[in-house]
Amino acid sequence: MQNYNPNEVISIYGSHDASITFIDKNNTIRVYEYERFVKKRYAMFSSRFDGWDLMGSNQNERIQFLTHIKNNLNNTNIKLILYLELNDDDKNLIKSFFPNAEFVLMKHHFSHAASGYYTSKFKKSLIFSVDGGGWDFNLVYTTRAYLGEGDKINELNCQNYDFGNPYSAIGWLISEISPEHKTEHSLTNAGKVMGLCAYGKVRNEWIEHFESYYVNKNLESLCSSLGIKCEKNVLSGQDSFDVSTTSQYVFERKMNELVIPFVNEYKTNVVLVGGCALNVLYNQKLHEYLKKLNLELYVPSNPNDCGLSYGMFLTMFPNLGTQEICYSGIEILDAELYDKFLSEYPNEDLTVDKIVQYLKQGKILGLVNGHSEVGPRALGNRSIICDPSFPNMKDILNAKVKFREWFRPFAPVCRLQDIEKYFENPKESNYMSYAPMIKSEYTDRVKSIVHEDNTTRLQTTTSKTHNLFNEILNKLDELGHIPIILNTSFNIKGLPILTRYEDAFYVLENTELDFLVIKNKIFKNK
Ligand SMILES: [Fe+2]
Repeated sequence: MQNYNPNEVISIYGSHDASITFIDKNNTIRVYEYERFVKKRYAMFSSRFDGWDLMGSNQNERIQFLTHIKNNLNNTNIKLILYLELNDDDKNLIKSFFPNAEFVLMKHHFSHAASGYYTSKFKKSLIFSVDGGGWDFNLVYTTRAYLGEGDKINELNCQNYDFGNPYSAIGWLISEISPEHKTEHSLTNAGKVMGLCAYGKVRNEWIEHFESYYVNKNLESLCSSLGIKCEKNVLSGQDSFDVSTTSQYVFERKMNELVIPFVNEYKTNVVLVGGCALNVLYNQKLHEYLKKLNLELYVPSNPNDCGLSYGMFLTMFPNLGTQEICYSGIEILDAELYDKFLSEYPNEDLTVDKIVQYLKQGKILGLVNGHSEVGPRALGNRSIICDPSFPNMKDILNAKVKFREWFRPFAPVCRLQDIEKYFENPKESNYMSYAPMIKSEYTDRVKSIVHEDNTTRLQTTTSKTHNLFNEILNKLDELGHIPIILNTSFNIKGLPILTRYEDAFYVLENTELDFLVIKNKIFKNK
């Protein structure tokens, strides 16, 4: 491939969790997730998926998205488009926006690997891409292993395990999850199964059945071994919990079967990518294992398919991986409405003191600031926060604002400098990628961010990673309050993380959210 300047190139991933990566007018790398633009979780860009009930989109939405991207480009004379999962119709449409561009097909797992390795700051590491499947040219793989050295990534010989599909398919059986899809294939279930694990125990007599299941991927045969009907919502209560916990246990064993022999052979750091890298319970265990060997684990903010366009871009421009992209997502899409809301809603000037005062009163605040997070987790720019020291804050938050399933945990934010004090085996975690346990002496003081098994989904912060969070925590500490806040994603129920003021005000208006923090103002409900 000839040499290109980064601002002559864009990359597009067209399947679920579609995104486009480009260089914007400020010469900053941007990763715009299609779901945020069309307000449909996991949205697919390619016309191949038009009409798919939950995630498909349409030509009009594609045109609007491409127009928006083009308006933000540093250079509209795009010469090269790196892509995955686009058909000829998609390419023709894109070509109408960028007539001088040549298209180059990339590899799914290599792109995952690039998104992790080039942002890891490691000079050498193993890289494992583990997910529910993606095209590497003419073949679909679910697991690939690589060795990164310098700016080279070389593929290693590795069995094509499939852990992502069996893990999420379990959710279809579980009535507490009440899956929205007709079949076991769904992107929403895996995270919910992981949440349920905390309530169950591993049933030893089931382990061999799950071992077989993670090889043959036959849900019917698993159900027959467990003595249950293979149908949606068939499990409830302790059976749901124990199936989740046993599945997680075997998932971790299988992940170790993949990872540990390579670690023993290469004795080097590890980068984990692919959808399975969202399993923070396994990530934590792998981190603890590696730490004993003086090795390190890295998981990027967007390890699943939402990071593929970025990975394609880094495949071509590895050096750009040093730019932090965690807050490089889509900007506020209706910024022109700000003045209207300013005149319509009561508001006061933002100070950290006021935010802390409201938190201590048990208030719930929504934060909307700048560009969105890249990846599935809200990390302060599209977040809802409150004080986890109120013992029933989790239930209050669910009843008033979030309306989430009762078994899903909420995450803590803690200053990096404090994590050894409050958590067991913690590690710097700017993107909520690990699940350290809270130290037992603090469990009751921050109950709302402690899951049933005492794990937490920790986000660490410094003045560099998220200054407002850090200042809030500084102030709490100064007042003798435990410096930990609860952080969850800011969205309208069932929709992706929001990125429009009108959606933020909709939540303020239609739920019991107490305050909305935008720019230098704190807004209240009318
Ligand atoms: Fe993937």
